[in-house]
Amino acid sequence: MSSQIDHLLNETRRFAPSEEFAASAVATAELYEQAEADREGFWAEQSRTLLHWEKPFTEVLDWSTPPFAKWFADGELNVAYNCLDRHVEAGNGDRVALLWEGEPGDSRRVTYAELTEEVKRLANVLTGLGIEAGDRVAVYLPMIPEAIASMLAVARIGAIHSVVFGGFSADSLRSRIDDAGAKLVITADGGYRKGKVSPLKPAVDQALADRGDGEQLTVEHVLVVRRGENEVAWTEGRDLWWHDVVPAASAEHTAQAFPAENPLFILYTSGTTGKPKGILHTSGGYLTQAAFTHRNVFDLHPESDVYWCTADIGWITGHTYVAYAPLANGATQVLYEGTPEFPQPGRWWEVIEKYGVTIFYTAPTAIRGFMKQGRQIPQRRDLSSLRVLGSVGEPINPEAWIWYREIIGAGRTPIVDTWWQTETGAIMVSALPGVTETKPGSAQVALPGISLDVVDEKARHVGHGNGGLLVVTEPWPSMLRGIWGDPERYRETYWDRFADQGHYFAGDGARLDEDGDIWLLGRVDDVMNISGHRLSTAEIESALVAHEATAEAAVVGASDETTGQAVVAFVILKESYLKLHGPDGLAQQLRAWVSEQIGPIARPRDVYIVGELPKTRSGKIMRRLLRDVAEGREVGDTTTLADTAVMSVISAQVR
Ligand code: PRX
Repeated sequence: MSSQIDHLLNETRRFAPSEEFAASAVATAELYEQAEADREGFWAEQSRTLLHWEKPFTEVLDWSTPPFAKWFADGELNVAYNCLDRHVEAGNGDRVALLWEGEPGDSRRVTYAELTEEVKRLANVLTGLGIEAGDRVAVYLPMIPEAIASMLAVARIGAIHSVVFGGFSADSLRSRIDDAGAKLVITADGGYRKGKVSPLKPAVDQALADRGDGEQLTVEHVLVVRRGENEVAWTEGRDLWWHDVVPAASAEHTAQAFPAENPLFILYTSGTTGKPKGILHTSGGYLTQAAFTHRNVFDLHPESDVYWCTADIGWITGHTYVAYAPLANGATQVLYEGTPEFPQPGRWWEVIEKYGVTIFYTAPTAIRGFMKQGRQIPQRRDLSSLRVLGSVGEPINPEAWIWYREIIGAGRTPIVDTWWQTETGAIMVSALPGVTETKPGSAQVALPGISLDVVDEKARHVGHGNGGLLVVTEPWPSMLRGIWGDPERYRETYWDRFADQGHYFAGDGARLDEDGDIWLLGRVDDVMNISGHRLSTAEIESALVAHEATAEAAVVGASDETTGQAVVAFVILKESYLKLHGPDGLAQQLRAWVSEQIGPIARPRDVYIVGELPKTRSGKIMRRLLRDVAEGREVGDTTTLADTAVMSVISAQVR
C-alpha cells in the first residue's frame, strides 16, 4: 500500500481548463465564495433556483436532533413533477429525455412529453393497485425506459421505491423485499445481457415462494414488463402484464406535493456485517444536491448536451445520475441496456458515436478493462463529440486517468473524479471543470457547500502531506436520513466514531497533499470494492458457511488489476463432508454457490481450501495476513496470532 501511495504522490502532471471551456462553463469560482460566506443560504438559493417548490420552504436546515437532519422541512414539492411535467409546461415536451439503446441493437427515443404521459398512466395503475404514499415498491428491472418510469411513478404518488440490481439473486431480492415490507414488485420477464436473455421474473417467483416458515409475505402484486420474451410462470390474481394495464390507464394525473422530507427511496448497500443496510433518502434535499452537482460537475448545458452515465439503476449512481438529476435538469441522456463488450468490445464507443454523446460518466474498472483491450478499439470510432469525462466508484489510478483523457478525450476533455457514496446521495468531492486545475488520481476538493476534513483517530486535522480518515463535518442536503428500520445501526455505523465532534465517518482512508487536495485511499473497514461495487466480507462469508461443506470461511478483498479488488475466500471444510466426498471440485462449486446466493458480482475470484485460519488469541480473524497471501506478498507481522505457525501452513496450502 505505501509504495502505491508514494507512487501516487509523485504524480505531478496538471491540467488547467482551456480558456474556451472556462468561458462558457456553468460553474465558476464564485460558487465556493458564496457557499463559504453562507453555507445554508447557498443551498437554499440552489434549491429555489433548480427546483419547483409547490409550497416554498422557509427553514433550511434543522439539525436540532443530530444525526437526524431535516432540510427545507416546511416546503412541499413533487419529485416527479420536477423531473417531468415542469419541462413539458415550459415548452420542452419535445426534447428527448431518453435515447435508449437495447443490447440487441433495438432503440427507442422517449421525449419528456412521452415519459410524462407514461409516468402519469403508471401512477394511476399504482394507485389502482392500492399503493399509497409511504408504501414500498420493489423494482427489479433491466436498463429499459420502464425502469426510469417506475421510479418516477412511485415518487409521483409519494411512495418509496427500493430498486434491487437485476444481477442480485432471488435470495438477495427476498431479503430486501422483506426488510422493506414491499407491497408491489415491478419486474420484467427478462433483460438482455451478453447476447442472452437473462430471466428476472423467475427470480421474483422464487423470492415470493412460500417457504413454509410462517413468514407473512407483504407483496400483493407483481407488475411485469415484457422485454426478454422468455417463458414465464404466471400467478393469477397476483401477476399483471405492464402492457395490459399501463396503456389502458388514464393519462390524466395531477402530481400532489409532498413535504420535503417525504421518503423517496431505500437502497440497500453492503456494510461491515452480513446484512445489507437499507439507506434511506428523502425528497427536497436529495433532489437539490443531485441537480446542483449534475449541472456543475458535468458542466451540463441541457439544450445541447447528450449525457451518458453507464451505471445501472440498481446502484446509487444510477439513482442519482441516471434517474433523478438528468431529468430534474431537463437533460437528454443515453440509456443502454447491456454490457460494454457485446456484441463486440467497442460497443460503448459505437453508442457514443451514434448519439453524439458529449458528457460521459463511468467507472475506473471499465476504463482499465478498455486499456487492456487496446486503444485501437476506441480509435475506430469518432468520439469528437465528447467534452467532459467523469469517473466514479473507486480510486482512479493516474495511468487510467491519463489514458481516459488521451484516448477517449483526445487529450482535451476535463476529467472529473467524483467521490461519494450511497449514503451521501450525491457527489461530495470533485473538481469543477472550467475552474479546477486537475491532478490525475486525486478527487481533489470538496464541492461548494460541502464541509470535509481528513482527521486522525482522535479527530485531529492531519494537515497537508498526511493521511487519515475522511469525515464530513457539516450536514449536507442529500445525506442519508437513516437506515430503514434501524436508527441505532445508523448512529453506530456513521456517527459514533466521532460522536464528540458530530462528524460523519465515511469509512474511507484519505490523504491530503501539499496543496490540500484529497486523495482517496480505499475503505478502512471490511467493505470491499469490486469493480466499483460494494460488497462486505461478512456477507460473502455467511453465504460460504451456508454451504453444507463449509465449516468456516474468511474473505478478503485482494487488489486486482482490472476490478480494483477481487474476492478471495479461505475455506475450512467440515471433516464429515470431507470423509464422504473429498475436496475435489469444491473450490469451483463454492464459487458458483456464492454467485447463486448473492449474485454473480460476489463470485470469489479464488477459493482456497485451507486447514486453519489465522486468529488472534481472542479469536478474531486477521484478514490483513490473508490479504498478504492473496496478493502474493510476504506475510506481515504474525506475533499477535494465537498460533504463529499457521501462516506458513496456509501459504503452503495456497501455493
Ligand atoms: O470507498 C469509496 C468508493 O466507493 C465507496 C462508496 O460505494 P457506493 O456506496 O457503492 O457508491 C459508489 C458510487 C458513488 C466509497 O466509500 N468510491 C466512490 N467514489 C470514489 C471512491 N473511491 C475513490 N474515488 C472515488 N471517486
